Amino acid sequence: MKAIVVTDQAAGTAGMTLVERPEPQAAINDVVVRIHASGFVPTEISWPSTWADRLGRDRTPSIPGHELAGVVTALGYGTTGLSVGQRVFGLTDWTRDGTLAEYAAVEARNLAPLPGDVDFTVGASLPISGLTAWQGLFQHGRLRAGQTVLAHGAAGAVGSLVTQLAREAGAYVIGTGRAADRQMALDFGAQEFVDLDNDSVEEVGGVDLVFDVIGGDIGKRSAGLIRAGGTFVSVVGPPEAPPADAPAIDFVVESDRAQLGEVVQRVRDGRLRTNIGTVASLDDAVAALNPTDRVTGKTIISILP
Ligand SMILES: NC(=O)c1ccc[n+]([C@@H]2O[C@H](COP(=O)([O-])OP(=O)(O)OC[C@H]3O[C@@H](n4cnc5c(N)ncnc54)[C@H](OP(=O)(O)O)[C@@H]3O)[C@@H](O)[C@H]2O)c1
Repeated sequence: MKAIVVTDQAAGTAGMTLVERPEPQAAINDVVVRIHASGFVPTEISWPSTWADRLGRDRTPSIPGHELAGVVTALGYGTTGLSVGQRVFGLTDWTRDGTLAEYAAVEARNLAPLPGDVDFTVGASLPISGLTAWQGLFQHGRLRAGQTVLAHGAAGAVGSLVTQLAREAGAYVIGTGRAADRQMALDFGAQEFVDLDNDSVEEVGGVDLVFDVIGGDIGKRSAGLIRAGGTFVSVVGPPEAPPADAPAIDFVVESDRAQLGEVVQRVRDGRLRTNIGTVASLDDAVAALNPTDRVTGKTIISILP
């Protein structure tokens, strides 16, 4: 099969190459998926799991990409819950070969059915961003109606879904980002916007939940804005200075079939709009994943349109 591999961490995404690889086999409780569309998070290249397996052994050449939408072609020993020919989407294991390929083997429990009226490109854009936003707001942040959320990077892949889900849940949402992102953040539902290049994040006053996708100095200063009873939620590591009166939670997203269902249902009925920037073929993927200009929205690789 055709697949993109990485072998050299220092080379970053520029080290991606399109090669021929053997098709994966379904292990116990796995399915094999013919991938129609794949999502990739640029920071994957810096994650240890891209380079080593759970025992710390080198696993290069590794196939990056952990989001997929496609069709099940084979079942492993003992696999239940999905069937051959079924449309699926979801999040693959961090330490196994990923989704920038024509096929991937993945545990069935990490996938959910993809409704027939949802495009594969849309399905592949949802697993990481959608589950991260859902888990950060509702599982870890315990968001309640009437609370104020500071949604960093509100025009980005995760932040745009954080903004929409928080609004739907009855929160007041203050989005942040670059000056050029103001209108996009407001279009996703942010009621205010802080241009982090020119405004001070402290101007927003107290908030109940910070959803941090930026970290560093922005994360540190945001932690100081949390009211008593609030929560600091981060997907970029713990804050340099934790909030005085509130828990700080940093987490890595996990796959969850029920939550994937919640997210995709909202896309179907118009409550959620996914944030896709560029769509490229597998042949053009290395160039698309090494952009020379600033990109907005997720880059999705359409493998079998
Ligand atoms: N722990 C987890 O489970 C998990 C899950 C998903 C994502 N993540 C991490 O979360 C981060 C965001 O992911 P994403 O997919 O949402 O990325 P993204 O689509 O690039 O969104 C991030 C947004 O924040 C903006 N931004 C970043 N730094 C900024 C700064 N200093 N000032 C103003 N705006 C800034 C970006 O603008 P620019 O593009 O101009 O920088 C972009 O609009 C990544 O580091 C990713 O690895 C972690």
